[in-house]
Amino acid sequence: TNHTIEDQFQARIDAEERIEPKDWMPEAYRKTLIRQISQHAHSEIVGMLPEGNWITRAPSLRRKVALLAKVQDEAGHGLYLYSAAETLGAERDELLEELITGKAKYSSIFNYPTLTWADIGAIGWLVDGAAIMNQVPLCRCSYGPYARAMVRVCKEESFHQRQGYEIMLTLARGTATQKQMAQDALNRWWWPSLMMFGPNDADSKHTAQSMAWKIKRFTNDELRQRFVDITVPQAEFLGLTVPDPSLRLNEETGHYEFGEINWDEFWQVVKGEGPCNRQRLKARRKAHEEGAWVRDAALAYAEKRRKRKEA
Ligand code: ACO
Repeated sequence: TNHTIEDQFQARIDAEERIEPKDWMPEAYRKTLIRQISQHAHSEIVGMLPEGNWITRAPSLRRKVALLAKVQDEAGHGLYLYSAAETLGAERDELLEELITGKAKYSSIFNYPTLTWADIGAIGWLVDGAAIMNQVPLCRCSYGPYARAMVRVCKEESFHQRQGYEIMLTLARGTATQKQMAQDALNRWWWPSLMMFGPNDADSKHTAQSMAWKIKRFTNDELRQRFVDITVPQAEFLGLTVPDPSLRLNEETGHYEFGEINWDEFWQVVKGEGPCNRQRLKARRKAHEEGAWVRDAALAYAEKRRKRKEA
């Protein structure tokens, strides 16, 4: 019995129908989507910075071409996602303003530094690997424009993951120094990658409602466990050691058990106190300021065309 408009909306969700921009939706559903999609867009844009740092120092032309393509893909993902947020009535100007003033959140992972070339391998393998784990289920998100954007994004993320793993494999099979570089990158990126999935379910304030609305299809802990189960054998294949002394395969469940995440570190980074938060925002602000003339020119051109049409 679907008495209220809210009941009818939930019935559509339960029937696996897609919600489209002009459909009625509860304000809280709209708000949650704008929050998640804009945070996701900001993550893609800020995510260009740690890797962009290595474009001029890639060890070969082939590596440089792949890295350039990957970083450009991230820019494309950000633009797709801002467009998806706009279908919900968000203004892109306002979203960007919230990013550069430090009001908006973006993924904690992009506040860590890229110290060596091996970090480019570790990011592709672990960070893009975690992103795929989280984003493949988003292809079945109840909100149509977000779900459709995720299909192409996930295809590109799989290429990113493979180029990263290939870098790790090359280093792991290289000289002792190269293998050590790969191990060091794994040591530094492992725990921050697990943090990408967000707080434990018990501390995740949005999960229950987002699952009920089928925005999220799995909880943070479910996806994190899947990531560990898939990634540990990949580390073994590389001959590298996961930096977690508590890690062990539970033969009964078939799942890896792992140590406690440093949640103090996680919340510090989320609050803006991570190793590179200030540097990242400064770089985004600089890009925004230096791009002001492009926005001005585009607006002046649009205005000129409008006047000419009127005349
Ligand atoms: N970094 C920064 N903030 C985080 C992170 C993280 N890794 N994980 C959770 N948070 C924030 C949430 O945004 C939320 O903050 P808010 O209430 O101010 O918006 C708060 O911590 C509580 O977390 P949850 O209740 O678990 O939030 P949610 O249900 O939104 O789950 C998640 C978080 C899993 C990140 C979800 O938003 C999601 O799937 N987003 C889409 C994917 C995405 O953004 N990926 C970005 C990295 S991948 C890439 O860009 C390559």
